[in-house]
Amino acid sequence: MEQAWHFETEAIHHAQQPEEATGAVIPPIYATSTYAQLEPGVLRQGFDYSRADNPTRRRLEQALARLEGARYGLAFASGVAATSALLTLLAPGDQVLAGDDTYGGTYRLFEQVYRKYGIGFSYADLSRPEPVKLPDRTKLIWLETPTNPLMKLADIAEVAARKGPALLAVDNTFASPYLQRPLELGADIVLHSMTKYLGGHSDIIGGALLTSDAELYERLKFIQLSVGAVPSPFDCWLVHRGLKTLALRMRAHSENGLAVARMLAQHPKVGRVYYPGLEEHPNHQVAARQMSAYGGMLSFELKGNVKHFLRQLKIFTLAESLGGVESLVSQPATMTHASIPRAERLRRGIGDELIRLSVGLEHPADLIADLNNALEDA
Ligand SMILES: Cc1ncc(COP(=O)(O)O)c(C=O)c1O
Repeated sequence: MEQAWHFETEAIHHAQQPEEATGAVIPPIYATSTYAQLEPGVLRQGFDYSRADNPTRRRLEQALARLEGARYGLAFASGVAATSALLTLLAPGDQVLAGDDTYGGTYRLFEQVYRKYGIGFSYADLSRPEPVKLPDRTKLIWLETPTNPLMKLADIAEVAARKGPALLAVDNTFASPYLQRPLELGADIVLHSMTKYLGGHSDIIGGALLTSDAELYERLKFIQLSVGAVPSPFDCWLVHRGLKTLALRMRAHSENGLAVARMLAQHPKVGRVYYPGLEEHPNHQVAARQMSAYGGMLSFELKGNVKHFLRQLKIFTLAESLGGVESLVSQPATMTHASIPRAERLRRGIGDELIRLSVGLEHPADLIADLNNALEDA
């Protein structure tokens, strides 16, 4: 989908026309479950029930689709609800090939919920340059890039060129459409946890699917209506408000992320630093090609006492999640990725010494001082 304006302008104006009745520049939150009908089945503006559609949700879906370069958008009650909606399109015997470093909750959904319906899941390191052989009956390729928490990157255009009839879905949560637009690189569908950068303020849970394929959209819209994991109008309104500053925030997250990564990379108490903006990152070339900057997420190996380090931090809050204006720190092994069995987690490289940072929008000097101070005591 062609954008008429630059990203920043679209983010502020698309699907944000002043309300007709009053001229309110910010359209109201349509906090309603149902809509008065003129006669049975004769609707005023196509709305009959808010699980099916709601004006506040529709505006968000249109705005988000525009920013991802998609024709269609669908909002869900969480990122995993959006993932689940996509998986319901599969049938017993179908295969999903996923990257081997997906978000723990995605892995749990694959292994502990959908596997028992006869869907097969296999995993491969999709960040390696050599092509991966697709298992027979592969219907869906699931790419997270950058991955959570090891910040691996897959070359989206490369995977798209080899996907055959399988659908390629990209979890674009870590990058956001400001840094990376997978549909333009050949993906069929983009997934977001709107909880993260899109909302941007750690105050909602939400998810979204974006596509330009009309048939796929109709099938997913049917699932959205039938399974019913929809977000509230208020949450939709908050995410839509968040979108308006997405470009500014992502630029600042990326600047702060790079500054923190560079500091950590030369610190004696730090082992490997996983940040695609560092030249030594194994996928740095791919990152430079398909992302416009490198975002605010990074992980590193601590050579020291993890608990002690975490206790000394004053600005970074120990918490799950990411993508908000405030900086967060987590230990993936015991937090976000605890649902992955220990042996599998270690095989993937997620040890207890791995620390994940969501670098926020505080002043970078304060963030660096906070980390330096905690590292000294670790
Ligand atoms: C990359 C990624 N995808 C999906 C999700 C799931 O989103 P939600 O927590 O909104 O269900 C998360 C949550 O942390 C995530 O980090």
